[in-house]
This record gives sequence, structure tokens and C-alpha cells, in this order.
Amino acid sequence: MVPRHASRHGERLPMKPTVLQIGALLPLVEKGIAENYTLHRLPPAPDRDRFLAEHGAGIVAVASSNRDGIRAELMDALPNLRIVTHFGVGYDTVDVEHARRRGIVVTNTPDVLTDCVADLAIALMVDVARGITAGDRYVRQGRWLAGPMPLARKVSGKRLGVLGLGRIGRAVAARAEGFDMEIRYHNRRRVPEVAYAFEHTVADLARWSDFLVVATAGGEATRGLVSAGVLEALGPEGFLINIARGSVVDEPALVSALQDRRIAGAALDVFADEPRVPEALFALDNVVLTPHIASATTDTRAAMGQLVLDNLASWFQEGRALTPV
Ligand code: 8YV
Repeated sequence: MVPRHASRHGERLPMKPTVLQIGALLPLVEKGIAENYTLHRLPPAPDRDRFLAEHGAGIVAVASSNRDGIRAELMDALPNLRIVTHFGVGYDTVDVEHARRRGIVVTNTPDVLTDCVADLAIALMVDVARGITAGDRYVRQGRWLAGPMPLARKVSGKRLGVLGLGRIGRAVAARAEGFDMEIRYHNRRRVPEVAYAFEHTVADLARWSDFLVVATAGGEATRGLVSAGVLEALGPEGFLINIARGSVVDEPALVSALQDRRIAGAALDVFADEPRVPEALFALDNVVLTPHIASATTDTRAAMGQLVLDNLASWFQEGRALTPV
């Protein structure tokens, strides 16, 4: 229900709900919000406190994105907050438990990005095994003139371990079937509707895998799940691919395993402290690094943005969110 108020001339006009934007959002999203709601952007400190004191009570919705999210403290400066629409499928930067306690609905953007994220996971796997970006550097640096590149590793027919068999993990597995890969997974719970074998621990999955793809949610529950021990289990012939969150992997342990060739290589789209990437990785040719681009296509970002707007519209017009977490 859009609240209504009286105009100066006495007729009833719809009152636009006030939405707070936190951090940068796609122009499409900002435009859509500005057209349909009263839009405020959260200013940085030191103006933030004054802004919140002045406008906090009027804000009923927040549009956040991955980088900044929204923590409990900020939610509590917004006493009438009803909905947080988060741009991204992962919501580890949103204090969802606190929102639940306060009766605030949180929405994310699932499904619309699954294809792109899974596409990138496969691309990274093939790249790190076959040396595509390493080969590109080899050509550009004129090293081919001095002789051929060292031989790479085959992907088709190998063993793929999927850590986290949610929507994205399943889409990665479906693509890997096209490469005749054997697939197993580890997940919080067994997924009865798939034919892939379940491994009881992350280490068991890593030990079995030629390629271990991390596709879990981030947050405290999965922090450091890919530990030094898991990397040891993956072993010198195993590759790690991470399109989930940097927090899921013990990053210092990963850097040292890669430096000592205790694992064969890694392809990483996400890092513990983005956009900072451990510089020790820059020198390693068995590593592929991308700047958190798994969902970053114009098509998918537009679809994610539209879902943010649709969630807001559905909430204010029908009283229910489309994709609550
Ligand atoms: C980010 C992502 O949301 O959806 C996710 O969880 O990791 C990305 O798509 C994107 O970087 C926008 O913040």
C-alpha cells in the first residue's frame, strides 16, 4: 500500500515512500528509485550522523549492494525501516539476523545471475588448467619466439568437486557435464534430487577432486571452510576455483600453498579484502585473477537491477517481496 496524504489543494495524492541508497548502485536502479520514490543517498561521515538524525525516521526502504551492505547499527538508526533490497545474490554484508528480529524484510537477486556466474566458473577452470591468460601473456611478452609454452592440463573427463550445491553450484555442475566430468559435491545437507555423489567433508571432496569449485554462500558459517588442511587434501595435482566469497578460503594458506606448488593452481574471482589482492599472487603463473566479475555483464546486471526495483514495487504495491532471503 502506498501511503496517501492530502495536497495543499485538498485532493488525496499518493505519498512517495522514502528509499535510502547505500553505496553506488547501477544508474538504472538509481533512476528507477528516483522516479518512483523519494531517494536519499547516505552521505559519508561526518555528515552521516546529521543526515540520519534528520531523515532516519522517514526512511522505510534501503537499497544496498554487496560492498557496503547494511549492519545492525545503521538499521537501528532507521526506526521505520521495513525492507532492505540488496543488489546481489550474496548478502553476507547485510545483518539478516538483526533484520529478522526487527521484522525487516531482506531481498536479494537470485536466479538472474546464475548463468553468468556459472559461465565464469567454467571459464576460470579451463583458463587455469589450459593456461589461456598465461598463454596470452606469453605471446604478448614475445616469449613464444624463444620456444613453446610448457604443456598444460586437460579438463574434459576430469573430476569436479562442487562445494555448495545451490543454484550456482548446480549450474556449474550442469555445464561440467558437457565436459564429461565426473561430479561430486559437499553441501550443508544432501541434495536428494541430484545424482552426484555426496562427500561428507570438504577435505574428502578436495582429496577426490581434480578441480574444486567454491560456490557456497559467504558469511560466518562458511568462513575459512577451505582451510590449510583442505588445500593439502586437494594436493599438488588439484586446482581451486573460487567464484563465491574470499572469506570462504583461508587466503594466507592459499597463497603459501600456491607459492610452494602444494596445489596445482587457483583461479580466483573473489578475495578476502577486495579490491586488495595479495601481491604475492601477481608473480605466480599458476594463478588466474579476476576482479569480482562473475555477474558483471550488462545483461545480468540489468536483470539484477530490475529485480531490485521489482522487489520494491511489489512490496509497496502488493505488500509482499518477490525474492526474500
Ligand atoms: C555482487 C555478487 O553483488 O551477487 C553477488 O553476490 O557477488 C556480485 O554479483 C556485485 O558485485 C554487486 O555488488
